[in-house]
Amino acid sequence: MDEKIFLNGNFISRTDAKISVMDRGFLFGDGVYELIPIYNSKPFLIDRHLKRLTNSLSLINMEGDLSSIVDIKDVIKNLIKLNHDSNFFIYIHISRGIQDNRNHVYPPEIKPTVLIMGEKYHNFSTDEISKGFKACVQDDFRWTKSNIKSTSLLGNVILKNHASDMGMYETILIRNNKLTEGSASNVFIVNDEVIKTPKLSNELLPGVTRDLIIKLLKEKKYNVQECDLSSDDLKNADEVWCSSSTNAVVPITHIDDYTVNDGIVGTYSLRTHDLVKQFIEKF
Ligand code: PDD
Repeated sequence: MDEKIFLNGNFISRTDAKISVMDRGFLFGDGVYELIPIYNSKPFLIDRHLKRLTNSLSLINMEGDLSSIVDIKDVIKNLIKLNHDSNFFIYIHISRGIQDNRNHVYPPEIKPTVLIMGEKYHNFSTDEISKGFKACVQDDFRWTKSNIKSTSLLGNVILKNHASDMGMYETILIRNNKLTEGSASNVFIVNDEVIKTPKLSNELLPGVTRDLIIKLLKEKKYNVQECDLSSDDLKNADEVWCSSSTNAVVPITHIDDYTVNDGIVGTYSLRTHDLVKQFIEKF
């Protein structure tokens, strides 16, 4: 099916959509993005995603009023209608825009390029979740503004492919002996019945799923801590999982050449997975 996407004010077919080679998103990776799950034809936690988008824009000095250019909620509503699908993801990509010459310096007046489109992702089945996934650990060599959801994803791309090339799900990142996040996810560990995740900083993305998980676990009176975690904490963890909008809770049972929890998905991981699943079903 030739699906419709939104590009700079128009709904057009995906195959017809074209971006100028002078777009700063193409030349410099100068832009930000969001990925919003659509469940039962409704955007999930949309206000949280749009708030992070506004924050990312402001952190790259694009704090202009986006609502005068595009009504994102309305575009998403139209895309859901046009694409006749109930479960998929909306990808929002806003680059700084097009300029006449390639120049690191952007002009004061430049109109953003706005792309919004649906994307299919593979949601892991309950069976896949219960078997667990493999991960590896790498040095976090990315820039130190990982709190911005930037389209400059080369570091993340290299790190994710490092795992993928070995048949693994994710690369877990350590910077200066501190766990930061995964190449495309946040990371949780369980140690002595305490659920821990790195505290927010410029070194990791403030994940919308991370936030939801913390809220749901706290409501159920679990002990959750946002704190610094070392590579030893990761190594000694009873359970590890990764969280993201694409797959909310992905239990990790093998890291490099050792097993977590004897290679069996732990009860905290499964309970958290179920909590999010129930929340999504009710949504
Ligand atoms: N990425 N950290 C990084 C580096 C990520 O790329 C993502 C998600 C997350 C989790 O954030 P959230 O829970 O808000 O999805 C953390 C998306 C899925 C992507 O780039 O495709």
